[in-house]
Amino acid sequence: MSKPVIVALDFADDFECINFLNQFPKDEKLFLKIGLEMFCQFGYPFVRSLRERGYNIFLDLKLHDIPNTVKRTCEMIAKWDVQMLTVHASGGSEMIAAAKAGLAGSATKLLAVTQLTSLGQNELANELQVPLASQDYVTHLSKLAFDNGADGVISSALEVPMIKAATSTDFLCVTPGIRPKSAQVGDQKRVATPAHARNLGSDAIVVGRPITQATNGYQAYININEEWNK
Ligand code: C5P
Repeated sequence: MSKPVIVALDFADDFECINFLNQFPKDEKLFLKIGLEMFCQFGYPFVRSLRERGYNIFLDLKLHDIPNTVKRTCEMIAKWDVQMLTVHASGGSEMIAAAKAGLAGSATKLLAVTQLTSLGQNELANELQVPLASQDYVTHLSKLAFDNGADGVISSALEVPMIKAATSTDFLCVTPGIRPKSAQVGDQKRVATPAHARNLGSDAIVVGRPITQATNGYQAYININEEWNK
């Protein structure tokens, strides 16, 4: 079975977003990531309208709160029939388990964010007072997520072998920071090509600007999908 290319919809307006989606043939079953920015602007009706168009949805809300609040929020999201939802692994074991309990009975996969890529070793040590090397912290949080019922993590493709070795080969690794050889790296730092991500064992890649900002978004998507699934 082919693995998904998840298109990150980081648009400032919904009209622009729908125009982008209209480039694709109607039967192209896209997998779309909706992040905090678009969700805060357009809310659940936007998610529902994309589900009604037949798209799969990765709702990247990165929840992080007390277990009871996260559980009740997940109970609500469970009714939305989205395919993936994120929480922060650093919310702790109880919070991760509460999120999973809130999603019970739905098909929504729970994914945990380990260390934000915007936080380097310096911030980890000096601001968060985490005495571990970044890789060890990612492994630790991945294990915490795995042990408490998460279905997978969001990680760099380069971290996938380490995470799978520490958890299970079935533990999903969804990886942003993907750039085909020809694309601009932009603000991403630790990038991998679609082929490299596949070889490292990623289960799904998240790609934004190389598709959404391309002159021909559909063609860019096809090229990336071919490289990823070949
Ligand atoms: O445009 P680009 O391909 O860089 O977009 C990647 C998407 O994945 C963005 O929505 C970004 O916020 C998200 N993301 C990321 N790195 C992470 C987690 C999420 O780039 N570690």
